[in-house]
Amino acid sequence: MSTFYVTTPIYYVNGAPHLGHAYTTIVADAMARHYRQRGDDVFFLTGTDEHGLKVQRSAEEQGIPPQELCDQNSQKFRELFDRMNLTHDRFIRTTESDHEDVVLEIVERMKSNDDVYLDTYEGWYAPSDEAYYDESEIEDGVAISSGSEVEWVEEDSYFFRLGDYEDDLLEWYDEIEGCVAPESRLNEVRSFVEGGLNDLSITRTSFDWGIEWPDDPEHVLYVWVDALANYLTGIGFGEDPEKFERFWPCDMHLVGKDILRFHAVYWPAILMSVGIEPPRGIFAHGWWLVEGEKMSKSKGNWVSADDLLDEYELDVLRYFLLREIPLGQDGNFATSRIVERNNSELADNFGNLVNRTCGMLDSFNDGEVPSPPSSVEPVDADLADAARRARKEVVRAMDERETHVAVEAAMTLSRHLNNYIQQTTPWVLNREDRHQRLEAVLYNIVEGIRWVAVLMAAFTPDTSRAVLDAILADERSDNALAFETLEWGIVEGGFELAAPPVLFEKLDPPEDEDETPDEDTMPESQEETDEEPDNLIDFDHFTDVEFAVGEILAAEPVEGADKLLELTVDLGEPDPRTVVAGIANSYEPDELEGLRLTFVTNLEPASLFGIESQAMLLAATDEDGNHVLASYPEGVKPGASVG
Ligand code: MSP
Repeated sequence: MSTFYVTTPIYYVNGAPHLGHAYTTIVADAMARHYRQRGDDVFFLTGTDEHGLKVQRSAEEQGIPPQELCDQNSQKFRELFDRMNLTHDRFIRTTESDHEDVVLEIVERMKSNDDVYLDTYEGWYAPSDEAYYDESEIEDGVAISSGSEVEWVEEDSYFFRLGDYEDDLLEWYDEIEGCVAPESRLNEVRSFVEGGLNDLSITRTSFDWGIEWPDDPEHVLYVWVDALANYLTGIGFGEDPEKFERFWPCDMHLVGKDILRFHAVYWPAILMSVGIEPPRGIFAHGWWLVEGEKMSKSKGNWVSADDLLDEYELDVLRYFLLREIPLGQDGNFATSRIVERNNSELADNFGNLVNRTCGMLDSFNDGEVPSPPSSVEPVDADLADAARRARKEVVRAMDERETHVAVEAAMTLSRHLNNYIQQTTPWVLNREDRHQRLEAVLYNIVEGIRWVAVLMAAFTPDTSRAVLDAILADERSDNALAFETLEWGIVEGGFELAAPPVLFEKLDPPEDEDETPDEDTMPESQEETDEEPDNLIDFDHFTDVEFAVGEILAAEPVEGADKLLELTVDLGEPDPRTVVAGIANSYEPDELEGLRLTFVTNLEPASLFGIESQAMLLAATDEDGNHVLASYPEGVKPGASVG
């Protein structure tokens, strides 16, 4: 059985969790869930980083002992992660005793490899980053890369001979494909190492909140050496050799780009020194920016993870964070974007697909999921092919760490299903009593929904569970989420649908935020590219719009509105829709009855003069500004798709 070991950084406990912490952990959780679905033996580690100057100072500011601050804030992370239903296998704390044992073992090995010596450190240190900086990395008293204030430090320190590992590191970058990704980050790291590495100060003497240096208790271990070793402790290094062997080397250290140097330079060098293989993969993701800037408490643009969860359903937030920006790039955080993605993708595409399907099964098939069809039409074969393509693309994209592409591949299948419904028009099949074909079509739709739910389960787990509970009802097995169930047509059917789930509610756009984020502050990954002329849309966007033939059953003037007519339209569905159309200047109501015209059927309903218009009539305008309607002959039935 393949294994997959994924870690998040462990989080400093000097404050409460924010959007950035939630993001890293959700991406790691999505990976863990995905590989579990593929049958891998997965270990997912997260936790809190509790030693060091930064935590000690926060505790002093609050007038409490550091351990108390750690207990309080670590608990906040743990509660948040429970609230987020994260599937980590261990939540590690660096103040736990098994971790201290691992750290001491690492230090012993570094010493016995003659990689440690005592000297004096003189240089700059930024407590907020727990990082040493060279003179060239500082400007006006702050570290250029992070903006954190630096302090001059002069103290005795033990050093790790990092400089001796330059060649080994460069060789490792070259030989192990994907050891550091994305490629652009690997190049940055490589040039940093090529520029020459100083030995690394790995103890401090000016404070005491850390693991004591063996035989020299004046010194505490540099917090990063302590913290990085959590990745070994988490899977039982020294305690459970079988487990350690199974999961090490780690497949995926997911980290923010700001802490890549620690992971891609210091960490592999330490591992090389202590005789442990370096990790297989380190991936640096980008930052969520607020109005173009990294979040920080002092700038007042800090987004609390708990506040977000108070406001949005967990799956909506997960979907947004995973879909909105390519993994590895920066993205602007704006709640208007969450609302937009929720409304136009989750609610209109996936939610609507499930709702309308449950409705059709109820109205046309006594609420039963039919049995697999005995014959297959080309449109059905296309659908099954699209499902297989989606599965392949989700797998490829996840393996290549393109999470946003994987999410989109699953949603494309959902769109395909909506189109399949428009093409096959189950309501027409029902009206014409073509029962066998109707059942085949309904079966295929349910089967497609099952595939979307399985493919989406790593990204929107609660939704997928609710959908599978509904469409598979009592037939749902424990391994319903496994990718091995993705064989077209394996559901036997012939059972009753459970109550349909309530999926995504439409959300109102936020009032206090600009609808369209400012392009000047929008990272490139989110900007519209100008490679194509503005007036071109891609095929996917076209297929988002549903056109259908509607027969006018009745037409009457709208009181108080000269230009409007209220139409009652048969779109081949169980009930006619009301449509308000601005054609009163060009047509009398009785000219319209019986005409079969083109409608857009999936626009959000709009209220006009107090009447809800549930579709949009398409009409041309002639030279004099009159509306002209193009109608279809009798053979074209209401509900027939246009496109
Ligand atoms: N304790 C260290 C990690 C030790 S791992 C052996 C640390 N902790 S942290 O709490 O400051 O940050 C943890 C992670 O959160 C980092 O990967 C960082 O990139 C990420 N984020 C912090 N702010 C962020 C955003 N605004 N956006 C996305 N992620 C960001 O560093």
